[in-house]
Amino acid sequence: MKVIAIANHKGGVGKTTTAVNLSAALAELGYDTLLIDMDPQGNATSHLGYVPFSITKTIESALVDDNNQIDVDSLIIERGPRLFLIPANLNMSSSELLLSGMLERERVLKRVIGKIKRRFDYIIVDTPPSLGLFTVNAIYAADEVIVAVQTQPFALEALGVFRRTLAKVYQSKKDYNFKVWGLPTMHDRLTNTSRAMFDKVKEMFGPLTLTPIHQNVRLREASGLGKHILEHDFLSSGTVDYIRLAKEISGEKEEERQENRTHRGD
Ligand SMILES: Nc1ncnc2c1ncn2[C@@H]1O[C@H](COP(=O)(O)OP(=O)(O)OP(=O)(O)O)[C@@H](O)[C@H]1O
Ligand SMILES: [Mg+2]
Repeated sequence: MKVIAIANHKGGVGKTTTAVNLSAALAELGYDTLLIDMDPQGNATSHLGYVPFSITKTIESALVDDNNQIDVDSLIIERGPRLFLIPANLNMSSSELLLSGMLERERVLKRVIGKIKRRFDYIIVDTPPSLGLFTVNAIYAADEVIVAVQTQPFALEALGVFRRTLAKVYQSKKDYNFKVWGLPTMHDRLTNTSRAMFDKVKEMFGPLTLTPIHQNVRLREASGLGKHILEHDFLSSGTVDYIRLAKEISGEKEEERQENRTHRGD
């Protein structure tokens, strides 16, 4: 079981698109996958076709559950084969303040996940565009973080702050397997700017740089329709990119590579 947080405190860089479509791709590959929406904007929730404000039970109830009364399983919506969601909505924005008064306030989500993790192969957490307690909780709970970086000018300017926060968490977690991946998003392989930014992402993340997600209008359409990309257009480049990402993350690519090597005898 692995928990992966999708983060970057810069807004509009493809975090939610990645959280939703990576979850759907992992489910397609046969992994039981839970997406937790930790963003009061509820974008992951609506991307999967739910109306955030009409939802009564969100991740918030488990986060502020001081007396341990909430059955976390009851918050899980079954969205499709092997794809599950714990939703979010704007009502939870005030609970970030409540969290700040709680004991071990950074580890609340980790405790919540501890109650349900046996059911899943992957838990993906979508985070808001801030370095507040929701994001910090997601990072504490995570075994791996995917930093979504749009390959556009200014994308890296604020990343130093974000990486310092990650480094602090890393030190206090004492988890030496903790991985921070860089994922170039909305990549346009034809423009010089995009290519130059991709090189900078590679400099920053080294071997943990993932293959880019390309610009694909189908991804934008899917979010507006309340569908993930595999449902909206299975043959799109968006589907190809997110299936590839799911394989990279789950290590299938490495296994495939090794298998090919064995077949080839090298
Ligand atoms: N690869 C892509 N190609 C085309 N459009 C994309 C792509 N990735 C994301 N988008 C679009 O860009 C916009 C921002 O993406 P998204 O909501 O995933 O970003 P975000 O980082 O989650 O934003 P926020 O910080 O507000 O949570 C959305 O309209 C989305 O549909
Ligand atoms: Mg988002």
